[in-house]
Amino acid sequence: MPALQTVTTPAELRSALAEARRQGQSVGLVPTMGFLHEGHATLIRRSAAENALTVVSVFVNPTQFAPTEDLAAYPRDLARDQTVAQEAGAALLFHPQPQDMYPPGHATSVSVAGLSTRVEGASRPGHFDGVATVVLKLLNLVQPTRAYFGEKDWQQLAVVRRMAADLFLNTEVVGVPTVRAQSGLALSSRNSYLSAERQAQAAVVSRALRAVQAAYAGGEQDAQALLAAGHAVLAQEPVDLDYLHLLDAELQPLQGQLTPQQAAQARLVFAGRLHAVRLIDNMPLVPGEQVQQGPTPGAPL
Ligand code: PAF
Repeated sequence: MPALQTVTTPAELRSALAEARRQGQSVGLVPTMGFLHEGHATLIRRSAAENALTVVSVFVNPTQFAPTEDLAAYPRDLARDQTVAQEAGAALLFHPQPQDMYPPGHATSVSVAGLSTRVEGASRPGHFDGVATVVLKLLNLVQPTRAYFGEKDWQQLAVVRRMAADLFLNTEVVGVPTVRAQSGLALSSRNSYLSAERQAQAAVVSRALRAVQAAYAGGEQDAQALLAAGHAVLAQEPVDLDYLHLLDAELQPLQGQLTPQQAAQARLVFAGRLHAVRLIDNMPLVPGEQVQQGPTPGAPL
């Protein structure tokens, strides 16, 4: 396996990619904030299987954190990230500093109206503007054939897909299913804030989502009654709930009796805090039946 090359500035990144571009090679991009885990490794392996060259970006993007959030505390370990990226098949790791991505005088940001202010966006105002802005910068720098995002950040995936469609980006946005611990807990760099015992408690989230799936499989079709099955499970642990919703493909909460079509497209989304650590997770209401990964590019919202 060739050694991973690490570059830190946009100019170095562009020159490292110049040869691949000249040869018309396919390029995959896996944008990350580092502290890579098996979920990231899965994205990188998928990219390496589908593209001649894979770039992993490791950048804790300040514009997607509110001043009250965990920017300073966000876990970082570049040496370990380099090992994980190389072993999963990446050729290039891009590790810029904030001033590289946001040079003095920068004044442009990207806002995906509507989608960015719903659900998670309502809880974290400005978050998705920061995500869309940095993702567009990365896409413009790398100009990848494909870019890979985990489904764990379901709304982020929808925002990025919408942006890519609206701005005619020449990159295929690929959503990759969430990787979970054996307990069911969705892998996340932020899980490192929780002790092993608390991570075991956090598995209540996936159990709650599965309880909603089971209620639907058992014949319940009313959205509120379905969500009540999830609330009952969440009550088993000290979860400070932010939201538990059933969303349609445009990320609008579903209410009342669900039609089979609504159910087939419905996504169950959760956010809440356990011991002050914010967790998010999501699953389809009907396992294996979800055909759509977020809103269809080009569909009216
Ligand atoms: O999902 C993440 O890790 C981040 O939101 C992303 C896409 C790398 C943008 O900073």
